[in-house]
Amino acid sequence: MSRFWSPVVETLSPYVPGEQPRQDGIIKLNTNENPYPPSPRALAAIAAAAQRLRLYPDPRATVLREAIATHYGVAAEQVFCGNGSDEVLAHTFQALLKHDAPLLFPDITYSFYPVYCRLYGVSYEEVPLDAAMRLQIADYLRPCSAILFANPNAPTGIALPRQAIEALLAEHPDQLVVVDEAYVDFGGESAVPLVARHDNLLVVQTLSKSRALAGLRVGFVIGQRPLIEALERVKDSFNSYPLDALAIAGAVAALEDDAWFVETRRRIIASRELLDRGLSDLGFEVLPSAANFVFARHPRRGGADLAAGLRERGVLVRHFNKPRIKDFLRITVGTEEQNSRLIAVARELT
Ligand SMILES: Cc1ncc(COP(=O)(O)O)c(C=O)c1O
Repeated sequence: MSRFWSPVVETLSPYVPGEQPRQDGIIKLNTNENPYPPSPRALAAIAAAAQRLRLYPDPRATVLREAIATHYGVAAEQVFCGNGSDEVLAHTFQALLKHDAPLLFPDITYSFYPVYCRLYGVSYEEVPLDAAMRLQIADYLRPCSAILFANPNAPTGIALPRQAIEALLAEHPDQLVVVDEAYVDFGGESAVPLVARHDNLLVVQTLSKSRALAGLRVGFVIGQRPLIEALERVKDSFNSYPLDALAIAGAVAALEDDAWFVETRRRIIASRELLDRGLSDLGFEVLPSAANFVFARHPRRGGADLAAGLRERGVLVRHFNKPRIKDFLRITVGTEEQNSRLIAVARELT
């Protein structure tokens, strides 16, 4: 603390990202990164773009917005890009979620949401997931200015069908519904096809997970034009160039490499099923995951205890010290080899 701080700084409780260990040899299953290298075409495009670093990048990332638009069958004007989906979420909070009535989001979800609320002074209420950790849209029938949820949810991995999202949109025509689809490519149903019919829908996605580009920092939003315009106004009042030239080039090439995408996704989904079975065989309860991670608890060993035991044996997973989920571990789907090691170590500990 310092007398130079703006008053808001004292009120913040910053997001704590998962550990990025310095030492080699750790099996890193704690931050939902893709275990495989990105598309070689993306790496080649990044190398080529490095020749042009003398120049500022395109502030509107036009070629990337066009590539996203083509991929998802929307107009480029319906796309907004930012420095990871965390940044596009931050702009969304500031541009669209700050109203008198509270923003609603699940009690168990991406822990950055309440952090942004405090940063931007957004009032919010947490709506409990049901006993099976599922989102029930009927629970959102209460006064609010907007609704935000991750689909599939994090850290549970449970997906909400598109039909339920459409019902939620219809029930809340005057409230914005923001769907964070960071993990949708691993088994969820995207809400993007609903954007044309619903002016209250904003869909957030990222290249960090299914495109293996967490280090490049590329996220985007798809929504109708007035929503996108609000985001552009905030972005252009903050940083004209959130995406550097390397990120724009790499992201375009990654989106164009469909063969890499389809094969990598197939491998991760197949590994997830094996991981689920391996953990279940050890007595873990594993929630049904549509993401690149599983959320699991053991009837006899606490989450903190297990995470520490795994850590000592060189396997990093994520544990959240929060009331309803403190017995769970969130385990990223790794390569088959990494998953086998995780299972072997978990067997020693349970
Ligand atoms: C639900 C959810 N949304 C958004 C993000 C942010 O992803 P990025 O900023 O890398 O695009 C994450 C990252 O873990 C996430 O779990």
